[in-house]
Amino acid sequence: MGARIGQLLVIIFIQIWITTAQNRDSVSLLALKDDWQNTPPNWDDGSDPCGGGWDGITCTNDRVTSITLASMKLTGGLPGDIGELSELQILDLSYNKGLTGSLTAEIGKLRKLTNLILVGCSFNGPIPESIGNLERLTILSLNSNRFTGRIPASIGNLKNLYWLDLTQNQLTGSIPVSNGRTPGLDMLTRAKHFHLGDNQLSGDIPPRLFSSNMILIHLLFENNQLTGSIPPTLGLVKSLEVVRLDRNSLSGDVPLNINNLTNVNEMYLSNNKLTGPVPNLTGMQTLNYLDLSNNTFDQSTVPSWFSTLQSLTTLKMHSTNIGGELPAALFSIPSLQNVDLSNNRLNGTLDISSNPSNQLQLVNLRSNQIVDFTQRRGYSIGLILVENPICMESEVTDGYCSLPTKTNASYSTPLNNCTPPSCGSGQVSSPNCKCAYPYMGSFFFKAPSFSDLGNSTVYNSLRDLLMSFFRQVQLPVDSVSLKNPSRNLNDYLVLNLEVFPSGEVNFNRTGILGVGFALSNQTFKTKKDFNTYVFIAENYDFLPGVSGPKHKSSNTGVIIGSIIGGCVLVILLVLAGVYAFRQKGRAERATQQTSPFALWDPTSGSGGVPQLKGARSFTFEELNKYTNNFSETNNIGTGGYGMVYRGSLPNGQLIAIKRAQQGSTQGGLEFKTEIELLSRVHHKNVVGLIGFCFDQGEQMLVYEYIVNGTLKDSLLGRSGIRLDWMRRLKIALGAARGLQYLHDLADPPIIHRDIKTNNILLDARLVAKVADFGLSKPLSDANRTHVTTQVKGTMGYMDPEYYMTQQLTEKSDVYSFGVVMLELITARNPIEKGKYIVREVKLAMNKSKELYDLHEVLDPTIGLSSQLKGLERFVDLSLRCVEEMGNQRPAMSEVVKELESIMELAGLNPGTESSSSTSASYERTGNDYSHPYGNDSLFAYSGGFLPEKLHPK
Ligand SMILES: *[C@@H]1O[C@H](CO)[C@@H](O)[C@H](O)[C@H]1NC(C)=O
Ligand SMILES: *[C@@H]1O[C@H](CO)[C@@H](O)[C@H](O)[C@H]1NC(C)=O
Ligand SMILES: *[C@@H]1O[C@H](CO)[C@@H](O)[C@H](O)[C@H]1NC(C)=O
Ligand SMILES: *[C@@H]1O[C@H](CO)[C@@H](O)[C@H](O)[C@H]1NC(C)=O
Ligand SMILES: *[C@@H]1O[C@H](CO)[C@@H](O)[C@H](O)[C@H]1NC(C)=O
Repeated sequence: MGARIGQLLVIIFIQIWITTAQNRDSVSLLALKDDWQNTPPNWDDGSDPCGGGWDGITCTNDRVTSITLASMKLTGGLPGDIGELSELQILDLSYNKGLTGSLTAEIGKLRKLTNLILVGCSFNGPIPESIGNLERLTILSLNSNRFTGRIPASIGNLKNLYWLDLTQNQLTGSIPVSNGRTPGLDMLTRAKHFHLGDNQLSGDIPPRLFSSNMILIHLLFENNQLTGSIPPTLGLVKSLEVVRLDRNSLSGDVPLNINNLTNVNEMYLSNNKLTGPVPNLTGMQTLNYLDLSNNTFDQSTVPSWFSTLQSLTTLKMHSTNIGGELPAALFSIPSLQNVDLSNNRLNGTLDISSNPSNQLQLVNLRSNQIVDFTQRRGYSIGLILVENPICMESEVTDGYCSLPTKTNASYSTPLNNCTPPSCGSGQVSSPNCKCAYPYMGSFFFKAPSFSDLGNSTVYNSLRDLLMSFFRQVQLPVDSVSLKNPSRNLNDYLVLNLEVFPSGEVNFNRTGILGVGFALSNQTFKTKKDFNTYVFIAENYDFLPGVSGPKHKSSNTGVIIGSIIGGCVLVILLVLAGVYAFRQKGRAERATQQTSPFALWDPTSGSGGVPQLKGARSFTFEELNKYTNNFSETNNIGTGGYGMVYRGSLPNGQLIAIKRAQQGSTQGGLEFKTEIELLSRVHHKNVVGLIGFCFDQGEQMLVYEYIVNGTLKDSLLGRSGIRLDWMRRLKIALGAARGLQYLHDLADPPIIHRDIKTNNILLDARLVAKVADFGLSKPLSDANRTHVTTQVKGTMGYMDPEYYMTQQLTEKSDVYSFGVVMLELITARNPIEKGKYIVREVKLAMNKSKELYDLHEVLDPTIGLSSQLKGLERFVDLSLRCVEEMGNQRPAMSEVVKELESIMELAGLNPGTESSSSTSASYERTGNDYSHPYGNDSLFAYSGGFLPEKLHPK
C-alpha cells in the first residue's frame, strides 16, 4: 500500500515537472524582473515573456533564447534563477552601471550560452569557476566591472571561445595554465583575443601559455603587475597582430625569436624593466606602432634596423639608453608621424633634409646630445631639441629649443552642409542639424595603427563605416558624431561617440537595445587603422516610460507547517506539493494577462482562439515599431489586398509583413483559418509564417523575409541575379518540392490556388520558396479530391478546367506550375500582348530539331544552347502539366521525380530553393464559363489581369 502511494506520488511529481517545464522560463524571468528596477514597461503587461514580446527577450518555441538589455539603466543583481533558462544562448546586460553583486555560480548551468556580455556594469566578487561549464561560449566579455580574485582556470575548458575580455577589473593572481590536472588558458586554441589588461595580475607570464597551435591575434596584458621575463614561446604564436605587454614589471632580455612574429602591427613593451640589447625587430615588416620606452636596455647605438621598417607611423623609445647618430633615412619612412627618442644619448648632427615623410607631426629629441641640425628648406615639423647642446648656447632662440605648449588634437564630425539650430534642454544638434537626444559613450581603441590624433580622414572613415553598418542592420540611426580624440593613461585612444535617432527626437527601447548590443557584442567591426575597440555607453536618460521602483512580490509562497512523521513518502509529497503550488502560482501570474492570444477577440466573429504551431501574436504597436511606423522606405510591395513591409525584430531577424488594407480585411473567422493553416506549414521550400497581428482592426501576417525577392523579378532582370539554366532547374525543383509538400505532406493537404512566379521567392542561396497562401484551400476529409469554390487565381496561370467547372483540385496547381516552368525558360509573362505562353511555345516547337527549335522563344540569358542539357525533357514535362484535362496532368510528386532526373542528366546534384510574394489575385465575378484562354476570352481579359507587380521600390 505504502509503496503504491509512493509510486503514485513519483508519477504525479514527474507529471507536474513536465507540464510546468514551459513555465519555468517565465518563472525565472519573473524572478529577474523582481530583482531589477527599470525593466522595460512592457514587462509589466503580463507574465509571459515569450508570448508577450517583452523588450530584450527573444524566444524560440516558447523558450527564452536571448536576453539583451544593454543600456536600460537596470539596477539590482543577477539572481541564481538565471540558471534555469536552459535554452539561453545570448546574455547581454552591458552598460547597466546599477547592476551589482556577484556573478552567480548558477550561470554555469546555461550550457547553451554562446555570448556572455556584461560590459560596463558594477559586478564584483570573484568570477565563478562554474563559468568553465559553458562549453559553447564564444564571446566572454566581463570587462569594466569590479571583479576580484583570480582568473578561473576553468575558462580553459571553453574550447569554443573566440573572444576573452576581462579588461579593467581588479583581478589578481597569476595567469592560469594547464598542468595535466587543471585546465588553463593555453587550452584556448580557438581564441583570437586575450584582453586581460588593466587588472592586478601578478607572477610570471607562463611559458606554457603560448604554443604554435594558437591563433591569437590580440594579446593585451597591459597595465598589470606581471614579472619575470617575456617567455620565448611567445614567438611561436605567429598569428599575433597586436602585442601589448606594457606597464608591467617584466625584466630580463626580450627573447630573440620575438622577431619571428612577422604579422605584428602594433607592439608595446614600454614601461617595464627589460634589459639586454634593444630587440632586433627586422622581421616585423608590417609594424606600424612601436613603443619600447622606459626600459633599461644595455647601452647601445641606434639600431640599424630602424629605417627598414617601412610601415612605421610611430616610434617611441623614450629612455632606452641608445646613443650615436640618427640615420637620415629614418625620417623618410613614408608613413612616419611621430618619433619620441627623448632622454637618450643621441649625438652628432640631426639630419631631416632628405625627402622626409610628409605626415611627420612631431620629433621629440629632448634631452640628448645633438649638436647640429640640418633641415630641408621650407619644411617645418614639430621638433623638440630642448636640453641638447645645440640649444645650450645662450643666444639660441629657435623654436625647437623651447617646449611647445601642449595642444590637444581636436576633431569633431563635420556638419552635413547645414546650419545648426539652437536646441532645447538636453537636446543636441546632429551632423544633419536636427535636435535630438543622442545615445552617447566612448570608444576605447587599445591599439590604433596611427598616432596623429588630428587627422580627420581616419575619423571620417570610421563615421562612414558606422553609418553603413547601422543602415545595413536597419537600426534607426540618423547620423553619428565622433569627437574629442585623446590618449588616456593606458595609452588607449579615446573617442566620444554620439548616435542620433532617426525619426523621433529620442530612441525607443528597441533602438537602444539594438545599438547597445551591436557595440557590446562587437557586431560592429572597425577596420585596421583602429583595430580592437571597447565601447562604454553613458546612461541614456530619454527612454520612454521608465517604470518606477517595484514593490517586491513575495515568491516564497507556501510554507508547509509541520511534517508528520519521518517517512520518505511524506517528504516526497511535501516537495511535490510545494513545487506544484509555486509553479501553479507563478504560472497563473504568468498567464493572467499575456496569453499569446490575449489579443484575440472572439467577439469579432472570429471563433475561439486560434490553434497555432510556432507562430506568435504581435501587437500593432510592435509591428509599427519594427517597421519604423510602416514607413515608406520599408514598403517593399503592393498587392491586391494591401501592402508588404519589411521590418526587423529586436533580435535582428528580418521579416516581411503583409498588411491587409482597410476594406480588404477578411472576416475574423477567415483570417483565423488562414493563420492556423499557415502555422502548420514547415518546409524548406515554403515561406515560413512567424506570426500575425489581429489588433486595432488590423490583419497582418508576419513572414520570414526572403532576401532575393520574387522569381519574376529575377526573370525580368530586376534583381541583378543572373539565372542560368542550372539555377533555373534548381529553382523549378525547389518550387516543385514545396508544392508537393503542400499537396502530399501538409495536414490537411493544401491547394495553393495561386502558383505564379510572383509567388516564388528566392533566398540568399537562391533556394526557391513558395509563398502567399492567401487563397489556399485545405482539403477536408469529406472532400479529399476536390473542393468547389468561387474561382480565384491569376489569369495566365489559372487552370482552365477549374475556371470552367469551379472544381478545384491539386491538378489546378500543377497547371499553374506548368506555366511557371514555361516562364522559367522564356522569361515572358504568361499573357503578353494578347499572346498566351502555352500556345506560343507549342506553335514555335519542332520536336524533330535540336532544343525543339525553341531558340526564338528562349530567354537569351539562359545560357548557350550547347549547355541546355535536358531542356527538351523540361519542355515535355511542362506541356504535360498544362494539359487541358486535369487527369492527364502528372501529380506534383511525379513532377519532382522527373525534375530530379533532368537535373542529374544536366550534371547537377538535385538541390532546393525558394520564393515569397504578394499578388493581385483574380476573382471571378461573371457567369461566363467559357475557356479562359480561347481567343475571344483571352482578348477580353488580357488587359485587366496581367500579373501584378511586386518589387522593391
Ligand atoms: C624563430 O626564431 C629563432 C631565434 O631567432 C630561430 O632560431 C628560429 O628558427 C625561428 N623559428 C621559426 C619557425 O622561424
Ligand atoms: C636581426 O635579425 C635578422 C634575422 O632575424 C638578421 O638577419 C640580422 O642580422 C639581425 N640584425 C641585427 C642587427 O642583429
Ligand atoms: C616613462 O616613464 C615616465 C616616468 O614614469 C613617464 O612620465 C612617461 O610617461 C613614460 N614614457 C612613456 C613613453 O611611457
Ligand atoms: C656618439 O655616440 C656613440 C655611441 O655612444 C659614440 O661611439 C660616438 O663616439 C659619439 N660621437 C660623438 C661625436 O660624440
Ligand atoms: C590623414 O590620413 C590619411 C589616411 O591615413 C592620409 O592619406 C593623409 O595623408 C593624412 N593627412 C595628413 C594631413 O596627414
